[in-house]
Amino acid sequence: MISVQNQLISNIFQDQFNLKYIQEISIKREDQIHPFVSGNKFRKLKYNLIEAKQQSKNTLLTFGGAFSNHIAATAAAGKEYGFQTIGIIRGEELSQKIHENPTLAFAKANGMTFHFVSREHYKQKHTIEFQNILVEKFGDFYLLPEGGTNPLAVKGCEEVLTDKDAVYDFICLPLGTGGTMAGIVNSSKPHQKVIGFSALKGNFLEKEIKKWTSKSNWEITDEYCFGGYAKINEELVDFINVFKNKTHIPLDPIYTGKMIYGIFELVKTGFFPKNSRILAIHTGGLQGIHGMNLQLKKRNLPLIEI
Ligand SMILES: Cc1ncc(COP(=O)(O)O)c(C=O)c1O
Repeated sequence: MISVQNQLISNIFQDQFNLKYIQEISIKREDQIHPFVSGNKFRKLKYNLIEAKQQSKNTLLTFGGAFSNHIAATAAAGKEYGFQTIGIIRGEELSQKIHENPTLAFAKANGMTFHFVSREHYKQKHTIEFQNILVEKFGDFYLLPEGGTNPLAVKGCEEVLTDKDAVYDFICLPLGTGGTMAGIVNSSKPHQKVIGFSALKGNFLEKEIKKWTSKSNWEITDEYCFGGYAKINEELVDFINVFKNKTHIPLDPIYTGKMIYGIFELVKTGFFPKNSRILAIHTGGLQGIHGMNLQLKKRNLPLIEI
């Protein structure tokens, strides 16, 4: 059994953010589960790797973009647990830039083989035709969907909350495909409200989450996505750096940084009732900082401190 610490942070920000009416904000340090397969990636892969072994599969095949945490984690998990790994990567131009891209360079160093496809072609990845081409090309494999979300991934994410977490009124987490949130909603208590901070603009994720859970004690906001997936500005970089300096907790710029920013904003607006106890889930993703810093450097913006 893994033991993950809940780290109190509200005491540190008490004066600065006027958090007085909140009883507690703590962060569940899922990022500390494993150096390379951390946070929700560990949770999502756990039962899938057990299943792949049971099916006697030797190869994991999955999909992702240039800075995908899921690609990096699948490569590292494959290496550690004895699977070959294949990454179907969005963007043909990246085939010439593997060494300039920290995520792809890391995955390659961990043994992942890449197949680069155009953005148009990538959109068809769910079709039978596309998957038949992959079988022809790569033979037998265990398929992990983009972002790793499937029923076994949701089952893994149901293990994030423990009985001790029943003291919290609100559970907050970042969301991409919604699989992690669905697992957390499934294991939340009826008195708890789960709030998902979307990394993407739009409210289409509600439909996704309803595919994986029948409970209704949750809501989603895209208010704090900074304009969309992987969009970032100086204010967010500054927030992440100040937060790390004060708490020693690193946040990534795509998911967890935006979630914590969003929680503080909601506190300021009085969204949470008096004496609320809030638990934020650190879903990992810290490997993405290197790639983002390269982009920030090109734009002459301050970098995220590592
Ligand atoms: C660090 C991190 N946090 C959160 C998420 C969102 O998880 P989900 O896709 O299950 O919503 C992802 C991506 O999948 C991620 O890499």
